[in-house]
Amino acid sequence: MSTDELMDKIHRYISRISDRSIRRKVRRIIKSIGEKLYDYHPLTLADSPAGEKIHHDYRGGLLEHMVASIEIALALSDLLEKHYRGRVDRDIIISALILHDLYKVYCYERRNEGFRRSDLGLLLDHHTLIVSELIRRGFPIDIVHATLAAHGKYGPSTPKTVEALIVHLADYIDSTLASEITRGVQLAMERAGVKPPEVITVSDALKILEKLGRAG
Ligand SMILES: [Fe+2]
Ligand SMILES: [Fe+2]
Repeated sequence: MSTDELMDKIHRYISRISDRSIRRKVRRIIKSIGEKLYDYHPLTLADSPAGEKIHHDYRGGLLEHMVASIEIALALSDLLEKHYRGRVDRDIIISALILHDLYKVYCYERRNEGFRRSDLGLLLDHHTLIVSELIRRGFPIDIVHATLAAHGKYGPSTPKTVEALIVHLADYIDSTLASEITRGVQLAMERAGVKPPEVITVSDALKILEKLGRAG
């Protein structure tokens, strides 16, 4: 999917946020991407990767990860409501998943063909940056919490609400899915005696996997 299509999807998810004030806040923070932080100029949202090596480490990777994790989270929310008769606030889920990695735009910079951690990203991390900004902008505490707890036990706070748990699981599922597929294909290519590309998108990895599978 192109970065324009992914960006359209993000805008469509934002319009699904039912609370007008939250919807506005999310739109405003997305619009503000591009502003300098300290002396650091961010990458554009379309350019930004979601990681340096671990997952979605290519242009458009951040948007890909945002959209995929929202889709996983909405599927989990449906399951929780339809199968388990629970209640889920989708405003929190959509907002937190759009926001949780948003400030990665400040944490990476271009290096040759790929990306590396920026000076700012070496000193501060994307969650600390976004969480402090969300508090400053008066985001509801449930959204701040779900954003803060997105990394589960590897982050500063574990999920304390159903919405935060869904956000964490969706983030974990998509990042694991992407890294396992891309790393697995790189290893399979090496085993087949083909030099794997250093950076590979999830979609390309899946295409290669299909070919390798057919080649037996
Ligand atoms: Fe993150
Ligand atoms: Fe993430």
